[in-house]
Amino acid sequence: MRVVFIGPPGAGKGTQAETVSKEEKIPHISSGNLLREAVETGTETGGKAKYYIEKGLLVPDNLVVDIIKDRILKKDCESGYILDGFPRTLAQAKILDEMLKNLGKKLDVVFYFAVSKENVVLRLSGRRICSSCGANYHIAFVPSLKNGICDKCGGKLNQRSDDKPETILERLRIYHEQTEDLIAYYRDNGILKEISSDGNIEKITKEVNNSINTSLQKKRS
Ligand code: AP5
Repeated sequence: MRVVFIGPPGAGKGTQAETVSKEEKIPHISSGNLLREAVETGTETGGKAKYYIEKGLLVPDNLVVDIIKDRILKKDCESGYILDGFPRTLAQAKILDEMLKNLGKKLDVVFYFAVSKENVVLRLSGRRICSSCGANYHIAFVPSLKNGICDKCGGKLNQRSDDKPETILERLRIYHEQTEDLIAYYRDNGILKEISSDGNIEKITKEVNNSINTSLQKKRS
């Protein structure tokens, strides 16, 4: 099952991808996480990507595409994956289609998580990430048991550097300018499934799972 999650920053793509990845036993591939890892480990790509991430801009297509290409060719991706945050431009979507075509594969379903601007700001300004294991919290909606400490590993919870108010608004602007076109692209390809992401986390997960099961049944029949 090859699945793509698109939607504005803070729509809950990463939160849903974590759960669905465990349930469907397919890897969760987040372009944002891969880029942040590259920045932290100090790779050449990371060095180039840092500037764009901190400003809330998109990292140039060639850098992201190379990272994703390497990742989806790994053995654990043979039976599928969830791409979270990639593609993000029409050029990336077309490169992905070509890449899959060359492998004799194609995408099964693209979920578009639609969410209000108010929720984006509320969710991103309250998001906290474990500096040790990467677990995702929210100070009001998904709080840790002990303030500032990860429930899973005891690590310190931090705010992402691009979750500052002015960068959140810039990321939203870039999303409308450069990523929104993908909705029509995948709708025209007949594989878009729109999910309202303003509701609670569990309800959204149920909807995503139901839709994946329907796609799986169609694929098998
Ligand atoms: P990336 O890391 O992909 O960030 P994003 O797309 O902006 O998405 P987020 O991770 O901010 O949000 P999310 O939708 O995953 O929400 P989450 O589940 O965490 O990209 C970062 C940067 O990397 C980009 O700006 C760009 O520079 C670069 N980049 C990445 N991919 C690229 C690409 N393909 N091309 C070029 N550049 C690229 O939820 C947010 C918060 O809300 C959490 O605290 C969560 O607990 C909470 N929450 C989630 N769902 C709910 C709910 N239903 N109700 C209440 N709270 C909720």
